[in-house]
Amino acid sequence: MKMIVTGGAGFIGSNFIFYMRRVHPEHELVCVDKLTYAGNMETLAPILGQPRFTFVRADIADRKAMYDLFEAERPDVVVNFAAESHVDRSIEDPAVFLQTNVMGTQVLLDACRRYGVERYHQVSTDEVYGDLPLDRPDLFFTEKTPLRASSPYSASKASADLLCGAYHRTYGMPITISRCSNNYGPYQFPEKLIPLMIANALEDKPLPVYGEGLNVRDWLYVEDHCAAIDLILEKGRVGQVYNIGGHNEMHNIDIVKTVLHILDKPESLIAHVTDRKGHDMRYAIDPSFIHGELGWLPQTKFADGIQKTVRWYLDNRDWWEKIVSGEYRDYYERMYAGR
Ligand code: NAD
Ligand code: DAU
Repeated sequence: MKMIVTGGAGFIGSNFIFYMRRVHPEHELVCVDKLTYAGNMETLAPILGQPRFTFVRADIADRKAMYDLFEAERPDVVVNFAAESHVDRSIEDPAVFLQTNVMGTQVLLDACRRYGVERYHQVSTDEVYGDLPLDRPDLFFTEKTPLRASSPYSASKASADLLCGAYHRTYGMPITISRCSNNYGPYQFPEKLIPLMIANALEDKPLPVYGEGLNVRDWLYVEDHCAAIDLILEKGRVGQVYNIGGHNEMHNIDIVKTVLHILDKPESLIAHVTDRKGHDMRYAIDPSFIHGELGWLPQTKFADGIQKTVRWYLDNRDWWEKIVSGEYRDYYERMYAGR
């Protein structure tokens, strides 16, 4: 089986490639990535040159490049992780989010249709449902929750989901969609909450918590997300949306304190800064559908996953220190100066 994995040089895509190599070593994987600021070839270095793995640097929104690639590779399955993924960047500059997340998805869908791909899987997010109030812990996102995106990022992801649904209904294309909650684990770019807090704490820099830090996210260890996608590819129903989440809701401030505690750093490093515009209050997935239909359950408890994650950033300082010292420094100054 030959699978194109887009965005495989990023956080979840690379973890998915490593997962698939372990669990299905017989699959042939073609990783397509534009290598934006978030794509890192060092992550993929251990498998470059190995049999049944190819890396192609290309933009998913480049129609000719995608058609040429599909013509040459004739994939059976396409899993689309490629995206602009950071909410704060989308608030600064939405255009590239529409270009990659919406137009890129459309190009991939057209390529899949043209070359008769057997399955297209869209990696989406719980953010397409908007947010839930803090005072209604009884409410959860189900697959039937209406789309109500808040940020340019989530609006672009919701638009891509709608396109996938339309291509399934109109052209009968074999599409599945998964909407996952917040992931954490190795190889996450240090602009996202957990790796940013680990990196800053290790450098004794302030930990910028937006507002009071009372917003709630539902954290899932990245490998559990990869296992869910694998299961959907194998046993999922075409045309179906699957919500993926771990019933692991936590306030941001508690995540930050946990990181400080593991690293034995003082809470005085916490700095409350101006809130994110339009900041979603709470995300919470009801994962009962994927559990009931496919038997998926998360395997990693947060207490273990966060220890493993902090350990990984301690053991792989080279990986993230290069990032933090490079172009990301300019982004950091822009995003947090005077906040
Ligand atoms: P990431 O930003 O770490 O990686 C994105 C990757 O896509 C990078 O390697 C980048 O170079 C590549 N890319 C960007 N634009 C491209 C283009 N035009 N053509 C080809 N490649 C391009 O993102 P991530 O956190 O790994 O997220 C992966 C997917 O999972 C995204 O679709 C995101 O919406 C979704 N998702 C993420 C989370 C999370 O918590 N991180 C949760 C649910 C869903
Ligand atoms: O829910 C899934 C989504 O999770 C994915 O679709 C996105 O791609 C992914 O980036 C993530 O979005 P969030 O906005 O929830 O993640 P982020 O790590 O940016 O922020 C998590 C929470 O922490 C959020 O409430 C904002 C807050 N935060 C974030 C940063 C970067 C801070 O308080 N301080 C920070 O410096």
